Amino acid sequence: MKGIVLAGGAGSRLYPLTQVASKQLQPVYDKPMVYYPLTVLIAAGIRDICLISTPEDLPRFQQLLGDGSQWGVSIVYFEQAKAEGIAQAFLIAESFIGKDPVALILGDNLFFGGDAFPRAFGEFESGATVFAYHVKDPERYGVVEFDADGKAVSLEEKPAKPRSNYAVPGVYLYDNEVIDIVRTLKPSERGELEITDVNREYLRRGTLHVTRLSRGTVWLDAGTSSSLHEASSYVQTIEKRQGMKLGCPEEAALYRGFLTHEQFEALVASMPKCEYRDYLADVSTEVKRVGIKSA
Ligand code: G1P
Repeated sequence: MKGIVLAGGAGSRLYPLTQVASKQLQPVYDKPMVYYPLTVLIAAGIRDICLISTPEDLPRFQQLLGDGSQWGVSIVYFEQAKAEGIAQAFLIAESFIGKDPVALILGDNLFFGGDAFPRAFGEFESGATVFAYHVKDPERYGVVEFDADGKAVSLEEKPAKPRSNYAVPGVYLYDNEVIDIVRTLKPSERGELEITDVNREYLRRGTLHVTRLSRGTVWLDAGTSSSLHEASSYVQTIEKRQGMKLGCPEEAALYRGFLTHEQFEALVASMPKCEYRDYLADVSTEVKRVGIKSA
């Protein structure tokens, strides 16, 4: 399965922060936002990654992430010139996707805890898999409605009157049909190819799987100054308490076997002296001592 990180958009709600660096490059506590979705993909076993961003921001992502080889993955870059919708990503990245299934994750969606994603990625066979997460303010999101048997029966994008409290977060798994489906879509009123329309088509075909994320999974968005600050606080709180980092691609790559222990040590040695390096050095020592116990 291929993986796409969509990190486009103007980030205007974070102005003036986003004057010189896009939203997904902003810090969430101790690392750039894009590290978190990348870590989700790596932890789920995805090695072939494509990052899509605006022509202005793409060089900065390239500077930050390179070709991915430092983490034992491949990262290629594609431009989304205009904010024409999440679903457009599949057309932009068509040559990258080839004949494979593909996962898309939004660059500003932050997920912590639980093993729902590695499990869903590992079990994926065909159709589409999306997730449902209980939120207080579903009208801000794509909303999925379930019937009494827990079967998904409707999907709506930012409905004024949501039919449930279940929002669809920004992680989507599709078979290769997705490219043809997007080709048939018309832009919505906001001028975008909507991901919810893609999911509706899979629902119509009877091939949409919706996995409810349990309350042990944390999904935060970081699109406003306030939510960005809250996300940073959350990460700081958990990291301080546990002494384990969240959203650390190096660590996920080691646990997934994308990096050997030697490669991991060399990567750590190449970093400037800092708290991040100290943490990874501790991970390295621990892995040497007891092996890899958990991802
Ligand atoms: C997008 C999708 C929406 C989804 C959300 C998750 O909304 O259109 O269905 O629930 O991402 O973050 P946006 O915030 O890009 O308008």
